[in-house]
Amino acid sequence: MQLDHNKYLKRCLDLALRGASGTHPNPMVGAVIVSETGEIIGEGFHEVYGGAHAEVNAVKNAKSDVKNSTIYVSLEPCAHHGKTPPCTDLIIKHKFKRLVYASHDPNSLVSGKGIAKILSHRIEVIGPEDLDPEIVAEANYLNRAFFKILNRESWITVKIAINENGEMITVPKQITNSNSQKDVHLIRASHQAVLTGSGTLIEDDPQLNVRFSAEELGLAQIKQPYRMVLTSNPKINLGDFKISQGEPRARLITNPHNTLDLSPNCQGQGLKLKAIISELRQEGISKIMVEAGPRLSSSFLDSGLVDELIVYQNTNNRELIKKMGLKLSPILIDGKLIPGKANERDDLRLCYKLTN
Ligand SMILES: NC(=O)c1ccc[n+]([C@@H]2O[C@H](COP(=O)([O-])OP(=O)(O)OC[C@H]3O[C@@H](n4cnc5c(N)ncnc54)[C@H](OP(=O)(O)O)[C@@H]3O)[C@@H](O)[C@H]2O)c1
Repeated sequence: MQLDHNKYLKRCLDLALRGASGTHPNPMVGAVIVSETGEIIGEGFHEVYGGAHAEVNAVKNAKSDVKNSTIYVSLEPCAHHGKTPPCTDLIIKHKFKRLVYASHDPNSLVSGKGIAKILSHRIEVIGPEDLDPEIVAEANYLNRAFFKILNRESWITVKIAINENGEMITVPKQITNSNSQKDVHLIRASHQAVLTGSGTLIEDDPQLNVRFSAEELGLAQIKQPYRMVLTSNPKINLGDFKISQGEPRARLITNPHNTLDLSPNCQGQGLKLKAIISELRQEGISKIMVEAGPRLSSSFLDSGLVDELIVYQNTNNRELIKKMGLKLSPILIDGKLIPGKANERDDLRLCYKLTN
């Protein structure tokens, strides 16, 4: 029987996303085991850093013997002893007939080595080069932050909300609807830290934590992000603000040598963003979301440090959206529109990729 690779890999990607909060700095990975008749007999994903890999969980959850079945994995199986034994050995041990994987793992400890070993055991391997480029692109997109962070760099997402006129500062303050807010909490949950500026702290007194349950966000668990406020004023007392409540404890980032890294829009003193990001990276914090007002957001955008800009636009102009040929709530990736799963009442959500 000819198996529909796209269908099973799509399922792997959906499963992988359930590990979006907590797997970092590991990748998100999903695995599906399919019998010779096309029935899914096991599913798993990588739930938490240091925990079992997707393949192990899929085998553990299998409802029947996996011998001679096909294992689909969204990312090339690991071949090294890390916190868990190599998944390639597991695939060989359980006598799978075929391995199908969507993304290469550029990690030098993994890349290609396990595949050669699997092939030497007469297990068929179908890799990204043999698959539909769209599903491969989707799998690579899922772990875009992981791939960048592997090169000892940070990943930075800036999120802003604008009204129909493109303004960030509005009355009333709340711009987006509840669907967008839920989306934002999901993005917070999938980053290690959320950064804001003193302007937003003082004006909005935000909490910047995740206040939806794991179940509501479709996640296996929620790891609350670190929360940090950037200011040149060390006298600000975080204890006066809501951000001081809850764990992990929020932190003020100040720099006595504050200067220079200012965007033209920033009238106050500005901290050197490159230095801050590099110091956070040394602390192991490398996947960062910026949720700030126009000053800090534009400083970040001017700095060239930003990988992705996510814009939520509250628009009632449905006619314009139709004329532009857009489905509601599309996501823009590399200039290509990917329709969202949204309904009529949603805000417009645009996602701009800013770095390679
Ligand atoms: N629509 C949205 O997406 C959104 C999101 C958040 C907030 N807001 C709104 O934005 C308004 C506040 O705007 P804002 O621009 O003043 O707030 P902000 O961008 O959150 O904070 C700006 C402040 O951060 C500090 N800072 C430190 N390093 C900086 C750097 N390199 N570049 C720029 N700033 C740096 C400076 O204050 P120091 O003098 O303390 O160093 C600066 O004045 C509020 O009305 C809030 O409601 C809108």
